[in-house]
Amino acid sequence: MDLTHRPRRLRQDRVRDLVSETSLEPTDLIAPVFVDATTDVRRPIESMPGHERVPIDDAVARVEEVLETGVEAVMLFGIPESKDPEGTRAWADDGVVQEATRRISDETDAYVITDVCLCEYTDHGHCGSLEEELRGDADTDSDDPACEPTLTVDNDTTLETLDRIAVSHAEAGADMVAPSGMMDGMVGAIREGLDREGFDHVPIMSYAAKYESAFYGPFRDAADGAPAFGNRRHYQMDPANAREALREVRLDVEQGADVLMVKPALPYLDIVRDIRREFDHPVAAYNVSGEYAMLHAAAEKGWLDLEAVALESLLSIKRAGADLILTYFAEDVAERLPTRA
Ligand code: PBG
Repeated sequence: MDLTHRPRRLRQDRVRDLVSETSLEPTDLIAPVFVDATTDVRRPIESMPGHERVPIDDAVARVEEVLETGVEAVMLFGIPESKDPEGTRAWADDGVVQEATRRISDETDAYVITDVCLCEYTDHGHCGSLEEELRGDADTDSDDPACEPTLTVDNDTTLETLDRIAVSHAEAGADMVAPSGMMDGMVGAIREGLDREGFDHVPIMSYAAKYESAFYGPFRDAADGAPAFGNRRHYQMDPANAREALREVRLDVEQGADVLMVKPALPYLDIVRDIRREFDHPVAAYNVSGEYAMLHAAAEKGWLDLEAVALESLLSIKRAGADLILTYFAEDVAERLPTRA
């Protein structure tokens, strides 16, 4: 028996860290923060234990809590005081994200990233304005429901809106904007808008490969952004497709995306790896609400060790090729990392 090669030699305690291939730092993590214009008090999010929607007046305090753990970046989501078909509160100068961004960037050193989307702001919960889409042959008198006009998101009208939202966030002081609506051409439209208004230094992190995933469930409670009818299949990606992700990413790169995001993270690590290999840009992965909720639920039953599985999840996302990770575990994990400053 030839045992010249004994990998176990390098698994001994004193050498493990020396040969470890992946490390996780608090500065790799981005903490999502929910700011809610409809409340004066913090409201716990039931399906996301430990997370709350915070009132605008508490946004700075909330971000300071994040900074204390060593995490330096936050992703802001807003719950507006009112919704309408066009989502007009999404680009209002006194809108919830604009107001929170202004205060956070004035009063803290946090790197502020804003979610640029419409689903929290439209009364129908879709990620843009709606148009009628005629399916089948519009001229037939068929009774077939497949030939009835149905509503879908109007891509090109929505692009104009996304441009306005991104500019309004930058005006309020956002350091980076993150369009998540999966409209064709969204990165180009936003880049053009930002450059036109003098924000050519503001990078765009594109939710480039965002899948139509059932793992967003808890977030939709948290941000009150579930679609009132139908689903998001018309614009978010089919979980069956991997090559399409590369095509989506290539388009975003051509339009000027600075950071490329894959979402969700754990069920899509192959996509993270593919994009890492194909492109030079920083790759972000969004460890979404459902990924967080399921570990918490299992831990509550005593079936998993929460701290251990959270850390292992984030390490695996990095190992697959992500440079940065958006995660609801950001604070908990950062606090326990040895590299913490
Ligand atoms: C939409 C948006 C969603 C998430 C982030 N931005 C929800 C969706 O597309 O339905 C999900 C994040 C999560 O589940 O943690 N603007």
